[in-house]
Amino acid sequence: MMKGKRILLIIGGGIAAYKALEVIRRLRDRGAAVTPVLTRAGEEFVTPLSVAALAGHKVYRDLFDLTDEAEMGHIQLSRSADLIVVAPATADLMAKMAQGRADDLASTLLLATDTPVLVAPAMNVRMWDHPATQRNIATLKADGVRFVGPDDGAMACGEFGPGRLSEPMEIVAAVAASFGAQPLAGRHILITSGPTQEPIDPVRFIANRSSGAQGTALAQACLGLGATVTFVTGPATVPPPTGAAVVRVETAAQMLAAVQAALPADAAIFAAAVADWRVAEAGAAKLKKRPGEGPAPLTLIENPDILATVSRGENRPRLVVGFAAETHDVLTHAQDKLRRKGCDWIVANDVSPATGIMGGTENEVTILRADGTTPWPRMTKDQVARRLAEEIAAALG
Ligand code: C5P
Repeated sequence: MMKGKRILLIIGGGIAAYKALEVIRRLRDRGAAVTPVLTRAGEEFVTPLSVAALAGHKVYRDLFDLTDEAEMGHIQLSRSADLIVVAPATADLMAKMAQGRADDLASTLLLATDTPVLVAPAMNVRMWDHPATQRNIATLKADGVRFVGPDDGAMACGEFGPGRLSEPMEIVAAVAASFGAQPLAGRHILITSGPTQEPIDPVRFIANRSSGAQGTALAQACLGLGATVTFVTGPATVPPPTGAAVVRVETAAQMLAAVQAALPADAAIFAAAVADWRVAEAGAAKLKKRPGEGPAPLTLIENPDILATVSRGENRPRLVVGFAAETHDVLTHAQDKLRRKGCDWIVANDVSPATGIMGGTENEVTILRADGTTPWPRMTKDQVARRLAEEIAAALG
């Protein structure tokens, strides 16, 4: 994991600098030691005192701080880390890095180091899109600098687009990945995904528009962190994850049976859009038109609730995560589900057609847990998955 890893965190200027505090906290939770460096511009947004308090370490600020030189020279400071993280990285700081300038402590450390560097940019969308910034990024990538983000979304300046600093957990995931950390190694994660199909007769069925994209992304993210994944999927439109034990089912009843057969698991994530109802007696032969009589009535009966059954079952995984896809009153319904279904977390999202989430590549979720409700910004389903996988790894310890 990250135990004993030494991270030099350079906090640049920008409204997103406050997120660096959460990054410090999360890195230390995972056993990393964080040495903070605050640029002049960074100091305008977070105080050295709060950074030092969270890092449990002195903050380095000035190249010409002779005490620092006596204690530890900037060359040594830049090389004593296992990884240098720049978050947030401004357009200016990246320009300096690309040009090899060294006119303050942060840029000098970045020039003097032979340690891998991970950059989390944050800036206005126009600055990000500017050819000069794009040239600098290409140069830095060619130099071997790694990037996390930026995310798309609404920005503090009121504009919309790429330029938001990645969420702290994504930055932590990128740090973990650069150490090759596998925090879910040895864990078995069970994931349901996709829609279910409930037969009406041999040729017709009741289904929904779930593509299986979020469940598949989750499986891929958990696999990436070293988990063993059982992936129970309905007939999805996206291909299943590579590296998982894939169990294909059609109906809710089959999904429940497959889930129970796959237990025990350390955690279970119920991302499937399970049909609430099935036809009581599916026709053995194709139902025929009945001229003059109208359609044959369909009697629906309730499907088993897989999430609730597992949450209250004997073989309950230590962590059970459900989803709440709603089109209105999302949080009210999600709160209700958290209580009613007996799971630990609910990942709530608005799937009304205007959001483009159902069947799309992006998601905007809110996480409901006993200890609080956290809205996440809109991001790709892959990003939601990576962040959720990190949270699951943290919860399993
Ligand atoms: O009640 P609702 O279908 O909105 O609940 C959504 C959550 O419950 C999802 O996590 C879904 O996978 C799970 N669920 C289930 N079995 C059902 C219905 C929903 O596991 N029959």
